[in-house]
Amino acid sequence: MNDPRIIVALDFPAAEPALALAARLDPQLCRVKVGKELFTAAGPQLVEQLMRKSFEVFLDLKFHDIPNTVAGACKAAAGLGVWMVNVHALGGRKMLSAAREALPPGKTRLIAVTLLTSMGRDDLADIGLSGEPEAVVQRLAGLAGACGLDGVVCSALETARLRQTMGKDFCLVTPGIRPLDVAVDDQQRVTTPRQAMANGADYLVIGRPITQAPDPLAMLQRLHAEIATELATS
Ligand code: C5P
Repeated sequence: MNDPRIIVALDFPAAEPALALAARLDPQLCRVKVGKELFTAAGPQLVEQLMRKSFEVFLDLKFHDIPNTVAGACKAAAGLGVWMVNVHALGGRKMLSAAREALPPGKTRLIAVTLLTSMGRDDLADIGLSGEPEAVVQRLAGLAGACGLDGVVCSALETARLRQTMGKDFCLVTPGIRPLDVAVDDQQRVTTPRQAMANGADYLVIGRPITQAPDPLAMLQRLHAEIATELATS
């Protein structure tokens, strides 16, 4: 089965530019991610339009609410037919378990966000979480795994350790990817596609290096080939 490892982040404020960019990509080489901005502006219709163009969609809405509400949101996402959906691990065991029950393993993958990478040690202290961010990430990933979730979103720096502790079947989805010759934008710590795959990532979320490229398809093809080389040698 074709299982493209690149997920292109469609971080656009409206449907038109998102669809225009998608028209320049190849669904054989990537999946696409629809996040809060685009979904709030363009809604489920946009997700359906992308799916009609043969793109599998990661619905990145990071659900975080009481268990009953999150379960309902997960069911609605599965009803749309998306490939992957995510929830916040900070919602806790009951919420994660309710999400899993609403979305039995199978068609729609269910993953968790552990800690937002924008949160440092001081931010954790502000909300009463002690310990280093890395330790909190490990704990929350373990909780997501214990609740039967399929994986987590994690920074490339966390990937190698999570791959060790969570085993080979736990899905690791990694943003913060930059090819060597592309601007890092506002990302603080970046990793190349090959390095992220070598560290154990399953899927790479890549936005601006592809969406802002003069030729998005050429960049996608290049990064796809780079990853294929790494997969072949690993
Ligand atoms: O354009 P760029 O490649 O930086 O986009 C990365 C995407 O991954 C964005 O949609 C961003 O919101 C998302 N993301 C991230 N860091 C995280 C979680 C998600 O960059 N820790």
